[in-house]
Amino acid sequence: HYLGIDIGTSGTKTLLIDETGKVLAESNAEYPIEQPKPGWTQQDPDDWWAATVKTVRTVMNKSELKPSDVKAIGLSGQMHGSVFLDKKDNVIRPAILWNDQRTAAQCDEITSKAGGRKALIKMVANPALTGFQAPKILWMRDKEKRNFDKLAKVLLPKDDIRRRLTGDYVTEVSDASGTLLLDVVKRKWSKKLLTKLDLDADLLPSVVESDEVTGTLTAAAAEALGLTTDCKVVGGAGDCAAGAVGNGVVKSGVLSTSIGTSGVMFVHSDQPEYDATGRLHTFCHAVNGKWHMMGVNLTSGGALQWWVDNILQGLEGIPENKRYDAATKEAESIVAGSDGLVFLPYLNGERTPHADPDARGSFVGLNTTHGRGHLTRSVMEGITMALRDSLEIIGSMGVPIKQIRASGGGSKNPMWRQMQADVFGKKITTLEVEQGPAFGVALLAAVGDGAYKNIESACKATIKVADETKPDRSAVKAYDRLFPIYRDLYGNLKQSMN
Ligand code: XUL
Repeated sequence: HYLGIDIGTSGTKTLLIDETGKVLAESNAEYPIEQPKPGWTQQDPDDWWAATVKTVRTVMNKSELKPSDVKAIGLSGQMHGSVFLDKKDNVIRPAILWNDQRTAAQCDEITSKAGGRKALIKMVANPALTGFQAPKILWMRDKEKRNFDKLAKVLLPKDDIRRRLTGDYVTEVSDASGTLLLDVVKRKWSKKLLTKLDLDADLLPSVVESDEVTGTLTAAAAEALGLTTDCKVVGGAGDCAAGAVGNGVVKSGVLSTSIGTSGVMFVHSDQPEYDATGRLHTFCHAVNGKWHMMGVNLTSGGALQWWVDNILQGLEGIPENKRYDAATKEAESIVAGSDGLVFLPYLNGERTPHADPDARGSFVGLNTTHGRGHLTRSVMEGITMALRDSLEIIGSMGVPIKQIRASGGGSKNPMWRQMQADVFGKKITTLEVEQGPAFGVALLAAVGDGAYKNIESACKATIKVADETKPDRSAVKAYDRLFPIYRDLYGNLKQSMN
């Protein structure tokens, strides 16, 4: 049996599976986010550890397995965050998270020390973005000198959990890609960039592939979790790559979309392709020796949530879990393209493709025939067209696109699945059961333990496609006409967004 633990932003999810991939038990535990200033986000790594212990103990109790039945653990988590440790492994300050925006000045410094954006992309495959890890280290050097002087190690969220489990400082290639310090092509730390930034390589953990065993539980960790010291811990993956593995996106030609609070368009690649202007992230995949590219929309399902919870009136009497269905039902009878209404979902700035923290949302093209069904539909269309922006960049890189697997909240609604097929002009598939990143890393644990030859065969044996949605020809035509209009709006409106 195997455990997958996902250290998410709002909480930790732990899953217990057997060798066939059957989920035997799951447990969630939540924790708060600290926002000491606008644009700053922090968490206490002790909360992650407490949630890990609690959820592992809960799934073990539910399943009634013996401690020795669990052979390996896979770790996943929110990417890019930084846990700062001193020589004695004390946490120096709260961890700074992936969506923290405090490091704009340090991003500029990294770009200039690297010799410009192009040179930086050549070294680490990605441009400097505020949420990534390297600028956070420089921020601490600039703003918290006394803390920086104590700094001995910087770890990503899930890798701090690994340290507490096995006593080792280790990360793996998919999550390490989001530090901005990994030579993504060679799959090892970029000595070149570390030297240019005057950062000591000893600050970083060692790097392995996602399916490699990195250690076994210490006596203290085994006792805390109710497991044994024979239990292995494998590399695991950042939550995007782990989610893709959980969705079976482990071979060329298969993409996945995930519409949650944020939106992700993810594609597997046998080669490390990158967009010369850095609009997409190029990261190592959790598939040994492979890569992935992805575009991230900061407000995706979050825009529909804003629309339904804050703006739509008249849904008050409907139970909270039925409000989305009620709202989207009204949008069903509206034709593709919402009769000329277009919505930009950049409510909190945007990452792909604009990399603009000041981007904002808008409705354009309103007329007096529009009702609230039109507005709801155009919110959903705007979210979906933001994902198409990433898809178009992926297409322009010559990456084959055969099938798109939808996941997250946006895949549960049949109308939204059809909309995705129509906006992307591709067949959409969904899984029988979707378990997300925790399932992906539980499978990596199974591979690390030798239950499967590799992650491709583990996915093939355990993941079943349940549903196919084909694009509707006339809707595809309508969206092909609408998309260039949507795409040009950001440039036309940019001056008025502030
Ligand atoms: C990926 C990203 C987020 C976090 C949070 O680049 O920033 O998806 O991993 O889960």
